[in-house]
Amino acid sequence: KKKMRFRKTLLAWYQEHGRDLPWRKTDDPYHVLVSEIMLQQTQVDRVIPKYREFLEKYPDIKTLAEAPQEDITATWKPLGYNIRPVRLHSIAREVQETYGGKIPDTPEDLEKLKGIGKYTAGAVSCFGYRKPVPLVDTNVDRVLQRVFFGNPASQTTKEDKVVWELARALVPKKNAYDYNQALMDFGAIVCTARKPLCLLCPMQAFCSAYPVSS
Ligand code: ADE
Repeated sequence: KKKMRFRKTLLAWYQEHGRDLPWRKTDDPYHVLVSEIMLQQTQVDRVIPKYREFLEKYPDIKTLAEAPQEDITATWKPLGYNIRPVRLHSIAREVQETYGGKIPDTPEDLEKLKGIGKYTAGAVSCFGYRKPVPLVDTNVDRVLQRVFFGNPASQTTKEDKVVWELARALVPKKNAYDYNQALMDFGAIVCTARKPLCLLCPMQAFCSAYPVSS
């Protein structure tokens, strides 16, 4: 089946080409949350040093919740989009107050926190708690649409809901963590928005969009 083939090919690719990123070395859901909020609008290279600096200054959610907002925003500043540290601060306070400092582990509870959308809820649940849940950001959306529905630049573009359902059907019970991290890297390195590397793509044989010519 195509789904099995996709999973297997993706994981094999990731074994060889997956990136070594600092937020893949933590089991702390708070660290995962910080990384995911930073990565929402900022490139990986720029996030790495700031992720380290931020966590040195605010090593746990309680420290962050109790810190003055101006300090948090100032630490964040070079990353831009300064609404993000304000949101992160409010999430930290809500987690302190409503959940006794423990970040929720299901996408449903995570989404109840103001400032956490569907993608980030899935990411924190999967990367922070190893739950086998789907997550779809713009990169994952593009990869899944291409492989399963053909080039999204054509008329076949599927709605969000359809792609989330596909993502849910694909996510393996075991190894969901690696599978989802692999999707991130595959979208960033091979199945890029502009000039995807179709000629060296391991999905060629079964990708519905192969070859993307743009
Ligand atoms: N972008 C968003 N989340 C990411 C992750 N966990 N790894 C790499 N890039 C990402």
